[in-house]
Amino acid sequence: MQSSDDSFSMRVRVFKHTYLYGPKVLFTSVIKDEDFNRVLDMKPARPRSLISRVLARTLWFWPRIEDARGWVVSTNGTRWDPEIYLHDHRTKLIEQVLERTSVGHSLMELGCNCGSDMAQLYSYGFRNLMGVDASGTALKLFARQYPNTFDHVHPKHDLFQRYLLKQADKSVDFIYSNGATIELVHPSFPIVAQMCRVARRGILLDLSERQQGYPRDYTAQMQKQGFSLTYTDKPTRPTDKSHIFVFLSRS
Ligand SMILES: C[S@@+](CC[C@H](N)C(=O)[O-])C[C@H]1O[C@@H](n2cnc3c(N)ncnc32)[C@H](O)[C@@H]1O
Repeated sequence: MQSSDDSFSMRVRVFKHTYLYGPKVLFTSVIKDEDFNRVLDMKPARPRSLISRVLARTLWFWPRIEDARGWVVSTNGTRWDPEIYLHDHRTKLIEQVLERTSVGHSLMELGCNCGSDMAQLYSYGFRNLMGVDASGTALKLFARQYPNTFDHVHPKHDLFQRYLLKQADKSVDFIYSNGATIELVHPSFPIVAQMCRVARRGILLDLSERQQGYPRDYTAQMQKQGFSLTYTDKPTRPTDKSHIFVFLSRS
């Protein structure tokens, strides 16, 4: 029997989300600051136009950022509740970060949420840390729970899309993202290409390649951008779980 991972329909989805999207310029010409602000409940915002809704319904590749909305609201007791992400244990991804980097390196976390992973890195001596998250509630919890790390890092309340676009080329040594997070970004934003533009040395991800968000061929996308898969704990046979992927720059 075929698993959901290698079924024909999954392979079609992976192909679509990997290859059948427009360039960055389509995203930036459609999604403006006022749209990010709308999703983040910030001002000045503009309502989503009828034409944009219709295009998003009819064209799968049409740029959109509404997926982040549940995280922005992050209601208590739902799967978006930041309390769920508080933890003391060292995750497999953080084990890899500690193995592959040293305290002098600059690290950027995408989806830092309430800061449990970043606070660990801070406690190990890392100081050149940056972070971003869509959830204001999660960042408030971060400030309460880990005030020293929060005050030092000043994580940004923004969407990955706008945050990454603002970063200079090769401006950080490593990007990491835990908890099957970058899969949540609609593929109209080329998140892999943008991470590869910003990271100088490597990208470390906990990825659920097929079960969460938009399934893509992350390894092929990374390879195309000059980053090679150096380590993964993914077994040969597909599983429903997320796995660790370490990509290092070839240059
Ligand atoms: C599955 S949680 C993982 C949280 C944390 N990394 C962990 O492993 O505990 C995904 C995180 O990404 C954030 N997020 C999702 N989409 C986002 C987007 N487009 N921009 C910024 N943050 C986003 C959410 O607010 C949430 O904190």
